[in-house]
Amino acid sequence: MHHTWEAVDHYFEAATGASDPVLSAALRAASDAGLPPIHVSPLQGRFLTLLAQICGASSILEVGTLAAYSTICLARGMSPTGRLTTLELDPRHAAVARNNLAAAGILDRVSLIEGPALESMRTLHARGHRVDLVFIDADKAGIPDYFDLAVRRALPGAVIVVDNVVRDGKVLDHSGQDPSVEGVRRFAASLASDTRIAATTLQTVGVKGYDGFAIALVPRSQ
Ligand code: SAH
Ligand code: DHB
Ligand code: MG
Repeated sequence: MHHTWEAVDHYFEAATGASDPVLSAALRAASDAGLPPIHVSPLQGRFLTLLAQICGASSILEVGTLAAYSTICLARGMSPTGRLTTLELDPRHAAVARNNLAAAGILDRVSLIEGPALESMRTLHARGHRVDLVFIDADKAGIPDYFDLAVRRALPGAVIVVDNVVRDGKVLDHSGQDPSVEGVRRFAASLASDTRIAATTLQTVGVKGYDGFAIALVPRSQ
């Protein structure tokens, strides 16, 4: 099946023009620097661009930058006067990301904060930073905390997307052995009773294998 998923992804990637020289250069720089190839796929990146446009996003928060591939995609869909804040723990990743953001010509609209995302989010929270689109894609054990803080900072109508909630079906492992799976499962277990949001998940296949997104909306009025 993997072969078909990849072939279909490549087919639609070409059909939609989801890859372009700026994004390809960002991936090349990441690979040259030895970063892991765990960016969203080109078509998923296009999804993030469209989502930012659909939301009319002007204050985007990303948790987990890596080489800024998804950052560039999100920023492209942001309103022209918007700002994007992206959080990254690893200084080597942040350095590659900065170069890629500069090459993409968007460094002036993006703040990259180095350090543990939870600390950065708490600082932003204390400063009253509000968001209308959040992409959570760092360590999976941290998802419940990142999601809760994101909801607390969300403007009415905000959308929160969480990456990698399926991981080849690993999400069904209830042994409690894998902290990444536990992070997703604790998050999932909170969704039905979380009256602040409405949420769903979408399973995905493609060049990144079998995975999925959770998507939550913070309604405008409750
Ligand atoms: N969003 C990127 C991929 C992110 S990969 C894209 O799709 O292009 C996950 C990133 O989260 C890695 O760069 C990793 O260093 C970072 N990360 C892991 N734990 C973190 C933490 N506690 N705080 C901030 N970033 C973290
Ligand atoms: C991993 C992390 C990701 O954010 C992703 O999209 C794929 C894989 C990982 O840590 O293996
Ligand atoms: Mg991811």
